[in-house]
Amino acid sequence: MHLHKYEKVWLVFGLASLVLFLLIIGFAAFWKGTHPQSHIETIDPQNVEANESFQPDNLGLTEVADGKYVVNIVASAFNYDFGKEEDGTATKTIRVPKGSTVLFQVTSKDVVHGFQVAGTNVNMMVEPGHISRFESVMKNDGEFTVVCNEYCGIGHHLMFGTVEVY
Ligand code: CUA
Repeated sequence: MHLHKYEKVWLVFGLASLVLFLLIIGFAAFWKGTHPQSHIETIDPQNVEANESFQPDNLGLTEVADGKYVVNIVASAFNYDFGKEEDGTATKTIRVPKGSTVLFQVTSKDVVHGFQVAGTNVNMMVEPGHISRFESVMKNDGEFTVVCNEYCGIGHHLMFGTVEVY
């Protein structure tokens, strides 16, 4: 079979770009730790309290084992509910020691929100009716801003919080 020169060039280009994009996906998945969030777990967005994780008293940070934490968050327009401090004010900062494993569990009461902990590999889409889970090891210390990265309405830019790794 005879292949025209341009056809060969085009074949090589096609194969090379396939390999290149597979390498990029592999790098993101295995080196940078980018993975899809959880599996399809459903919840009634009108009644998130029916799920134990999202009852008001269970929101925010809980240490479940030595160095292992769970953070439950309810997103709504335009706030992240991280539970309350002992004095009754809304929690805005989650504090965990460096090296700890943190499972973030987020759901939405209304529209699609985002949940990104900028500077870490935590980046989820939060859809009403679903529970978004992502576990991450907090390797670096510092203050990381939690931002909503899905446009959710007029107060979109007001949705933020902080994860402090000490
Ligand atoms: Cu919530 Cu944008």
